[in-house]
Amino acid sequence: MKACMPENERDAWNQRYRDGSHGGSDPDRFLLKSYEEFIEPLFPAGGAALDVAGGAGRHAVYLAERAWQVTLTDISEVGIERARQRAKAYGATLDFLPGDARSLDFGRERFDLVMVFFYLERDILPRLAAALRPGGLIIYKTYTREHEKFAIHGLSHPTYFLGDNELLQAFPGFRVLHYRESASGRGIAELVARKPGGAAKFCGSLPASVPSRKFDA
Ligand SMILES: C[S@@+](CC[C@H](N)C(=O)[O-])C[C@H]1O[C@@H](n2cnc3c(N)ncnc32)[C@H](O)[C@@H]1O
Repeated sequence: MKACMPENERDAWNQRYRDGSHGGSDPDRFLLKSYEEFIEPLFPAGGAALDVAGGAGRHAVYLAERAWQVTLTDISEVGIERARQRAKAYGATLDFLPGDARSLDFGRERFDLVMVFFYLERDILPRLAAALRPGGLIIYKTYTREHEKFAIHGLSHPTYFLGDNELLQAFPGFRVLHYRESASGRGIAELVARKPGGAAKFCGSLPASVPSRKFDA
């Protein structure tokens, strides 16, 4: 960790959100693409989503604007407060589950969609799989070891970075709908995978409630 950062993970993230070094950006492009290609066709009427380590709520609010009931969980109460403010600014409603993802109970078969962006805690992956309903989607994007050299946010321990093909194999039994690993540059891996079972089917039409907010991401 950087010398100026508190050792405690929660305090460190609170400090980042307080000093504005984190939390202001638009939704990640991967969520926008996944929404068009997988989420909306499979769940045209929305559903229940869990945003794990959702921070200041850029992804949770994006989905909440599209008829999703989103629960955002994060260890940082300052991040959660930013998410609350963001939701209010966009006229969206979010549910919050504050706490450490390593010890939180996400329930069983409660969500149609679980998303994780830029957070890795291997021990919780089976609980994320269990929290999905049959037919539900996991959308996951985070850094690979390729990214280590940039050591952003003071994170430089291998624990925070995916190995080769690691995300691809992280949800055994799921059907992989999309997987990509970059070989250079930012060093990311992204996955869309579907839990077996369930009755959701592809449907081509857009829900009437989709707003036309544009993103540069
Ligand atoms: C790089 S940020 C990503 C935030 C959000 N997913 C996004 O893409 O905008 C990592 C997030 O993980 C949260 N976090 C770190 N450790 C955590 C833990 N043990 N349990 C829950 N959240 C955690 C931080 O508070 C922070 O909001």
